[in-house]
Amino acid sequence: MNIAITVIKSRRSVRKFKDTPIPEEVVRNAIECALLAPTARNEQPWLIGKITDPALLKKIAALTDNGRFIADCRICFTVFGKKDAKYCLEDCSAATTQLILGLWAYGVGSCWVAGDKKPYAEDVRRLLNVPEDYKLISMVAAGYPADVPVVKKKDAKETTFSERYSS
Ligand SMILES: Cc1cc2nc3c(=O)[nH]c(=O)nc-3n(C[C@H](O)[C@H](O)[C@H](O)COP(=O)(O)O)c2cc1C
Repeated sequence: MNIAITVIKSRRSVRKFKDTPIPEEVVRNAIECALLAPTARNEQPWLIGKITDPALLKKIAALTDNGRFIADCRICFTVFGKKDAKYCLEDCSAATTQLILGLWAYGVGSCWVAGDKKPYAEDVRRLLNVPEDYKLISMVAAGYPADVPVVKKKDAKETTFSERYSS
């Protein structure tokens, strides 16, 4: 099978990580993948942070509800979006996906942790000194996988259609 297809199809959310450090080249390439995501009107309204300081990771983790595992990841990326960009959420979500796939292409597992719509989004922004005209869209906790869970997916027959939909 085509290597890109294999990478995309094999990705799963990873929440348990090994201590193995992630090479700088991997981080750089994954960020470059994110920065090349499709973006409405080519606005690129994102601001992507990378956090490796264990004390800071713990602080971020403690602010979240379903992201406590951030405390034990090797690196946490934070994707902020310029609030006034019309397609801020879509653009930053596309960048987040490309970041995750860029990491997985090197065997680095990760999990998207919600930012947008979460009550802690502003607290994370303040903690990281990000300017007020940005809002947190997502966080990506990453590291080499200690465990890759297998989650069941819906049958494509339920979630796709061709030409016109019929039930
Ligand atoms: C917008 C969004 C927010 C998510 N937020 C969280 C989260 O806060 N905590 C978490 O553990 N997983 C989070 N996830 C990951 C999903 O739980 C995961 O993608 C889903 O269960 C499907 O599993 P898979 O990624 O292994 O295919 C989020 C995913 C998306 C797209």
